[in-house]
Amino acid sequence: MTYRVVQWTTGHVGREAARGILRHPELELVGGYAWSAEKEGRDLGELCGLDPIGVAATRDVDRLLALEPDCVCYTPNQLDPDEVARLLEAGVNVASSYFVNGRTLGHGVRGRLEKAASVGGASVFGAGIFPGFANFIAALMAAASSDWKKIRFLESVDLTHYDAIANYTNLGWSFDPDEKWHDVNRQVLGQYAECVDVMADMLRVPLDEVAFDYEPAVTPEERTINGFTMPQGSLAGQRCTWKGMVGDRSVIELDVVWNAGKGLEPEWPVHHGYTMEVEGSPNIHTRVKFSPSPEQIQSGRVADLANPITAMPVVNAIPAVCDAAPGIRTYADLPLITGRYVAD
Ligand SMILES: NC(=O)c1ccc[n+]([C@@H]2O[C@H](COP(=O)([O-])OP(=O)(O)OC[C@H]3O[C@@H](n4cnc5c(N)ncnc54)[C@H](OP(=O)(O)O)[C@@H]3O)[C@@H](O)[C@H]2O)c1
Repeated sequence: MTYRVVQWTTGHVGREAARGILRHPELELVGGYAWSAEKEGRDLGELCGLDPIGVAATRDVDRLLALEPDCVCYTPNQLDPDEVARLLEAGVNVASSYFVNGRTLGHGVRGRLEKAASVGGASVFGAGIFPGFANFIAALMAAASSDWKKIRFLESVDLTHYDAIANYTNLGWSFDPDEKWHDVNRQVLGQYAECVDVMADMLRVPLDEVAFDYEPAVTPEERTINGFTMPQGSLAGQRCTWKGMVGDRSVIELDVVWNAGKGLEPEWPVHHGYTMEVEGSPNIHTRVKFSPSPEQIQSGRVADLANPITAMPVVNAIPAVCDAAPGIRTYADLPLITGRYVAD
């Protein structure tokens, strides 16, 4: 069986998602949504840096619904709840790189999505590398340890080569340090707290609260990365921590360190990837790192491995999302999601 998929936008993650859909043996790319007016009518393959595939991108949602897709691979730079509700009500499943369990969207919006999913008999799921797949790996590790008391998860990256670094302005980067950025980060990065929820659901941790902490880093000199300038003394890095608390005990900890290059104040060590630890019997440690394939090196897509590793957990989840019971679905609900072997 194949699932008919519409790719929703062709930005950094969307282009990689389209590549992944085209290579996936159970998926068929039948349409593409363009948010940008200048992409209307252009071939989806070309928009993704591929050969033409004979599928034109469109801003006309009715035309996309008329294609009767099973799923939309939803990767715009922000989630529009009305748009997602419309898709769900029309019976179209949604797999997104910008969704975890929807708690941050608020009770009302979450209820609206649940209702739309129920009406259309569809489900919405979100993944990515983190939030998403990396949290799933960390939770899985606990299956090999007994009597574990804590899971620690560290993302530590240098964003010097991240194409979409300008998106970090909404966290305060390039602006002066200010107390307000603590709450802005808690709000904007609410999906990381949702990751703690999902890990707790998978691990049956009876959470009392998710605590949040934020520490900024500034650049001692002006620096520009991928055309994005951070003036001297402005924000150019940060460390955020989310703790899933049971009483006064921190059981699930996510520590996230992002740096726009070296030499920030303060300067945290960069591990390039994900370090995960289960404190139990025995303790378990894993380090997940990424390196480019020969094809990525040849095509010059080395610099930005963040995009394929964000897109592929979403793409690979599509069959399970289409088969899932209607509603908001997370890794705690879906079966094991694996990659697919593709012969040359
Ligand atoms: N979970 C993870 O691991 C992870 C990691 C990285 C990113 N993400 C998320 O994945 C999503 C895509 O990231 P990205 O780097 O691909 O983003 P992006 O390239 O900045 O934007 C994606 C597309 O969004 C559309 N767009 C631009 N402005 C918009 C607006 N105001 N409203 C609605 N759509 C707009 C554009 O569509 P057109 O193609 O039509 O121009 C653009 O190409 C983001 O929501 C990001 O937060 C998740």
